[in-house]
Amino acid sequence: MSRRTVLDLRKKKADNERIVMVTAYDYTMARLVDAAGVDMVLVGDSLGMVVQGHTDTLPVTLDEMVYHTRCVSRGLKTAHLVADLPFMTYRNVDQAMASAARCLQEAAAQSVKLEGGVRMAPTIRALVEAGIPVVGHVGLTPQSVHAMGGFRVQGRTEEDAERVVADAVAVVEAGAFCVVLEAMPEDVAAEITSRVDVPTIGIGAGARCDGQVLVCNDLLGMDLSFQPKFARRYARLEETIVDAVGAYAREVREGAFPTAEHAYTRRGPRKLARLY
Ligand code: KIV
Repeated sequence: MSRRTVLDLRKKKADNERIVMVTAYDYTMARLVDAAGVDMVLVGDSLGMVVQGHTDTLPVTLDEMVYHTRCVSRGLKTAHLVADLPFMTYRNVDQAMASAARCLQEAAAQSVKLEGGVRMAPTIRALVEAGIPVVGHVGLTPQSVHAMGGFRVQGRTEEDAERVVADAVAVVEAGAFCVVLEAMPEDVAAEITSRVDVPTIGIGAGARCDGQVLVCNDLLGMDLSFQPKFARRYARLEETIVDAVGAYAREVREGAFPTAEHAYTRRGPRKLARLY
């Protein structure tokens, strides 16, 4: 089986089939979400928050993105692999080209995602002309958290809604094969989805997008203190993991683990036991 291509994903919109995207940051999670049959895996710079423990995505470096994308790449069989270009790594066309090339050449990403609308159109055009598929990202763009005055829903007023729609149309006209719509009223996302001929992938943008993306840690309930309005938990892994590790700790302390069944025995004087 081979990985989904940009053509497969565009065909899904044409066929009215919803697209499923999820983030992953390492080999194990990539293997699991791929086995679950998702269409696209995003190595998001959200890893700055959920893997590195920062309060926003700004500290993430290109080297870190390349490293995590390489790990994820080894775990995927069928999902399309998108790498985020982190903050300050696509300030002009030359820098964007060099950053995107690293994601494709060193980490086997199939496309890159970058944040921004109208102002990013020339950069997107140049990348696409160079053969690098681009996913746009408009609405709430977390790398502009300080400029936006926080992680705020965008497009709530008539004027701001027009700006968000214009941003989405600009990135699509520049050649993006897909666009992420983050944190905007449902009708704004629906308007964009009907106006562009490439898939829209929503996060906090309602049900009328061509697909949805969630951060895997959120959908798996890895941090139960974090419950944003736009996400649904499909598991409570924080509890599962804390309970499991707690049980292990108890058994080690009580001497209940390991038992004889976990211990190696000698077979002969010269034979080395196999570990696996
Ligand atoms: O970094 C990320 O995980 C993202 C998604 C939330 C779309 O950009």
